[in-house]
Amino acid sequence: MTIDYAALPDDFLWGTATSAYQIEGAVAEDGRSPSIWDTFSHTPGRIDNDDHGDVACDHYHRWREDIALMSRLGANAYRLSAAWPRVVPGGDGPVNAKGLAFYDRLVDGLLEAGITPSVTLYHWDLPQTLQDRGGWPERDTAEHFAAYASAVAERLGDRVHHWATLNEPLCSAWIGHLEGKMAPGWTDLTAAVRASYHLLLAHGLAARAIRAAAPDAQVGIVNNLSTIHPASDSAQDRAAAVRMDGHTNRWWLDPIHGRGFPADMREVYGVDLPERPGDLETIAAPLDWLGLNYYFPQVVATDPDGPAPYAAAVRRDGVPRTGMDWEIDPTGIEDLLLRLTDEYGARRLYVTENGSAFPDVVRPDGTVDDPERQDYLTRHIAACASAARKGAPLAGYFAWSLLDNFEWAYGYDKRFGLVHVDYATQARTIKGSGHRYADIIRGHGERV
Ligand code: NOJ
Repeated sequence: MTIDYAALPDDFLWGTATSAYQIEGAVAEDGRSPSIWDTFSHTPGRIDNDDHGDVACDHYHRWREDIALMSRLGANAYRLSAAWPRVVPGGDGPVNAKGLAFYDRLVDGLLEAGITPSVTLYHWDLPQTLQDRGGWPERDTAEHFAAYASAVAERLGDRVHHWATLNEPLCSAWIGHLEGKMAPGWTDLTAAVRASYHLLLAHGLAARAIRAAAPDAQVGIVNNLSTIHPASDSAQDRAAAVRMDGHTNRWWLDPIHGRGFPADMREVYGVDLPERPGDLETIAAPLDWLGLNYYFPQVVATDPDGPAPYAAAVRRDGVPRTGMDWEIDPTGIEDLLLRLTDEYGARRLYVTENGSAFPDVVRPDGTVDDPERQDYLTRHIAACASAARKGAPLAGYFAWSLLDNFEWAYGYDKRFGLVHVDYATQARTIKGSGHRYADIIRGHGERV
């Protein structure tokens, strides 16, 4: 498989990505308060094996070693998230100096290693204290988020130029409040729609706050998008695919691009939005870049009795899948990059996450061979380069993930890392896919 390196700019960012709760551990250290994920993961039955993030990859203490791993991969960028409950343990109010100091050290360490940091401000770890006051269905949460974002940008903005407000608000709103499979674990359509609205408002308010605190900031947002295919040619299944596209893609992309919330989806949900004058302009804050997290395509059939958007996933036989049971389809990443370019006029794009889980084992000789992940990685990067060749302004690719880590409701069994983590010893082992990624990065550097 060849990668069209010449389609990628010279200063392309080759990165890996992680998030705070999934790797840091140290949940009660240096003034961090509990987040909704501490609560959720400690609720019996919510997470496979009742796993939780108390220790995770112990990155809070091992970050130097982890930066050294990035250097061994040859990566020149790293996407991390800051933990709101570390920085503002009360959710609003005083900033915790020790919490900010951790990210300060980490950023300095990255820069010393020649690695560009990209900081995401919200990767799902809402301070529990704000959840106790209503969480994302309440407007105040969005205002508090902007204040927290401002504190982080003020402290790091002289060295960090890449900022993302939210990671995958779809998961926070729909999976957290409608499907109940992520924190806070609700199944309430009205709450979910209100949460989605306030998350987008939080994005707009934070974008403004980051720019005020750090004038050089390049601000974006990270959405997880999917290509959606109808399970059959029937009018019902085709309509279900349009609804799923609205739910997954347009509900998030339209408002941030100044197009308002899609009218068809407002009707599907049938829930009044908590709109106030000026909100739509705030949500449509200018974007310096857009982040795409891509994992799999979706095939859907109509499901009138199911939850909104009344479209159920259909399992196609004979299609290759990852250990998450997700279909493997690199054409999806290319299609989405081109859609963001053509339909939304994106000026700069990053693939902020892409990756695959497989049940890896360390062999007696100390290596981890993961041919399926190597193949997934290579084919998706090739598809990215192909999108760039066709005009997508792609400026970087971040592999999910640097390390095996806490995969939310699936706990530690699902391994996405380019680096294997032995959770009993915290030993890190670069997998075959990590070596493959290093080769790919080198290949781009050596192209003629
Ligand atoms: C997207 C999320 O941002 C990340 O936290 C998660 O681990 C990966 N997808 C894999 O599911």
